[in-house]
Amino acid sequence: MAKKPVTKNNKTNKTQKSPNKTPAKTGTKTTAKTSKTTKNAAAKKTPPKEPKEKRLDNLSILKSSPYLRLNDKGQLNQKQASLKDLFEKNLLSQKEEKLEIVLTGQYEKALDLMFEADASNLYPILVGPPGIGKTTLCRYYAQSRAEITGNDSFEWITFDESTKPSHLIGSFNPATTIQKGFSFEAFNPGPLIKAMLNGGLFLANEINRATEYTQNSLLEPLEERTLSIPHIGRVKSSPGFFFIGAMNPSELVGTHRLGEALKDRFNVWIELDYPDKKTEMKIIEHNNPYYKVEESILEKIYLIINRTRTHHQVQTPASLRSGIALARLTGVAQKRNKKADTHKILRNLASNVLFGAIQAKPGVKAKDVITNIISQVLGSA
Ligand SMILES: Nc1ncnc2c1ncn2[C@@H]1O[C@H](COP(=O)(O)OP(=O)(O)OP(=O)(O)O)[C@@H](O)[C@H]1O
Ligand SMILES: [Mg+2]
Repeated sequence: MAKKPVTKNNKTNKTQKSPNKTPAKTGTKTTAKTSKTTKNAAAKKTPPKEPKEKRLDNLSILKSSPYLRLNDKGQLNQKQASLKDLFEKNLLSQKEEKLEIVLTGQYEKALDLMFEADASNLYPILVGPPGIGKTTLCRYYAQSRAEITGNDSFEWITFDESTKPSHLIGSFNPATTIQKGFSFEAFNPGPLIKAMLNGGLFLANEINRATEYTQNSLLEPLEERTLSIPHIGRVKSSPGFFFIGAMNPSELVGTHRLGEALKDRFNVWIELDYPDKKTEMKIIEHNNPYYKVEESILEKIYLIINRTRTHHQVQTPASLRSGIALARLTGVAQKRNKKADTHKILRNLASNVLFGAIQAKPGVKAKDVITNIISQVLGSA
């Protein structure tokens, strides 16, 4: 966001300087340049800020941000600590972090169903488009389960083409294996075996991105609740082992088909779709705790995002993440430009957020669709 005014100023400066720098050239090129300069000069209402003033402005926006936590001098302190200290400090705070989420509508129903599946020793799978809250819900489930059962074992892997069975099961440390042979001591257990032995929860995120070879390594744990570790033996899972899958619908690009055998082992299918207006607005607010925007602006943000999901020229619409991003950026920009019209701010930022977030249908330019959506929601500029 901060880039925009800078670019604008740079542009203005460039055009102001260019007639002096480049002595009058003849021909059409010069004419075009001159007319552009005149146009810009006419459009320019407020003089650009001095570089020092601009720097102070940027400093104040970063200093007031709760995300950066700058000290009184406006500096980030992290540099002074060693990486080891930072690692330990952050590891601890991550453990203590308590996840809170919006639990209304589909999310509440899905969570109930996950508990029911867990109780009946069945494996659920969450299916929904990107950014709908699948991972968030699973993390919340893991936390709730740990609070109830006292067992906080939670392992997860996000699959892709390069995920191998050894990433799930574990592998042998070559040096120790040479010394001690194939034994448990030489074995680095993978996340699946850890969850199985601890009676914990395993989340197979983006499960349909795994190749069939890797998908097949899940057949035994899901059916028999056992796992064969090459050279050591076959272990069974401890009571409490629970497995959740999550994936984007298979018609999306970049995904493999979920093999029939694996598909058959998931008995509880939980479909998540774009939430209703009230829930999505709550989620946006929840994820924007520091730069609140008024209710009417929040609604406009929702309407812009939601329009990408119904627009006939949009192939891939915007996810919850875009609404959250737009709300945060708008809140910060309002703070910086207190006198500016919020609709104008929103209009500018919406295109910055949506440009990479949506995919237009073939033959249509994303930029045109975005302009169309913005004018449908906010009126034309
Ligand atoms: N119920 C919720 N309450 C609060 N925030 C949520 C909720 N659901 C989703 N979010 C927020 O929406 C964003 C996207 O959620 P998440 O990463 O869980 O989606 P996902 O479905 O796993 O996406 P992907 O398919 O891309 O992995 C996150 O910033 C998350 O904090
Ligand atoms: Mg996810």
